[in-house]
Amino acid sequence: MTEIFITHSIPENGIKMLRKRKNIKLNIYKGSKRITKKELIKYGQKSDIILSMLTEKFDALVINKIGSKLKMIANYSVGFDNIDIAEAKKHKITISNTPCNAVNEAVAEHTIALMLGLAHRIVEADDFTRAGKYKGWNPTLLLGTDVLGKTVGIIGTGCIGSAVAKRLQDGFGVNIIYYDIKKNKQLERICKAKLCSMNELLKKSDFVTLHLPLNQHTRHLIGAKEIAKMKKTAFLINTARGQIIDEVALTRALARGDIAGAGLDVYECEPLIDCNPKDKYELRKLKNVILTPHTASATIEARREMSKIVAKNILAFLDKKPIPNKI
Ligand code: DGY
Repeated sequence: MTEIFITHSIPENGIKMLRKRKNIKLNIYKGSKRITKKELIKYGQKSDIILSMLTEKFDALVINKIGSKLKMIANYSVGFDNIDIAEAKKHKITISNTPCNAVNEAVAEHTIALMLGLAHRIVEADDFTRAGKYKGWNPTLLLGTDVLGKTVGIIGTGCIGSAVAKRLQDGFGVNIIYYDIKKNKQLERICKAKLCSMNELLKKSDFVTLHLPLNQHTRHLIGAKEIAKMKKTAFLINTARGQIIDEVALTRALARGDIAGAGLDVYECEPLIDCNPKDKYELRKLKNVILTPHTASATIEARREMSKIVAKNILAFLDKKPIPNKI
């Protein structure tokens, strides 16, 4: 009997695929709050496979404490920065993720929603209207900016960054420039995107949007020095991982008006929005930011696709077949 522990409820379609299989015992975490480290270790010790969320940290301590029964961690997310891959490898634990093509539409739409929201000051306008401040049309009221014709700098052009580029180019006729570790010929062909240095991208873009994984090379990729290179009128969007930005530097730059605004779905000290809530500068108090709670991929379609893919990864592992999304 293979024991599979699922750390959080997920859409039923993937669970049904697993339930159809014989000799599997599914144990879905029932706690009303998020699973604790202690519980993760306790359940992990009894399981052959853990179907995990990005919020569970599998560091060396957790992996070592779980011990030798565990053979697979099937992560229900694109990012796998919650898992110490080297340590898992030492323990011969197989790791899989749900790849970005499960969520690229959702995240691309959310990214563009943040851009439009900032450019058209949607949240500010909503607050203003609800507060009863609207007293009649005024030609200078809440002036924003068009997205049409602007330069969008995409850092990381994997499937999410590319989906953002395609939608923006089709719908808004923007000029796309990008920075990546290698040339993206397809994107250049489809979107007339131009590869440039990080320096050039930061200097030229009206919107800078991040679509790259978190690892030791990308942590604090965007700090005070990088932000200082951006236009005063530019916006920064992050739907990737919070730690890619030095959030303290960003918060100060936003408070001083060094850049025009930011659209953030992820945070450096997540789930905290500000790492140090006592700091005199707080993201939550700034008007020129739109904040969403790591929901860029939160559409019914994307979550169902992720559920199907995570189940396929597990079933392939059990069948000793190549795992579609092995890390
Ligand atoms: C991911 O999958 O990595 C997203 O951040 C959440 O869906």
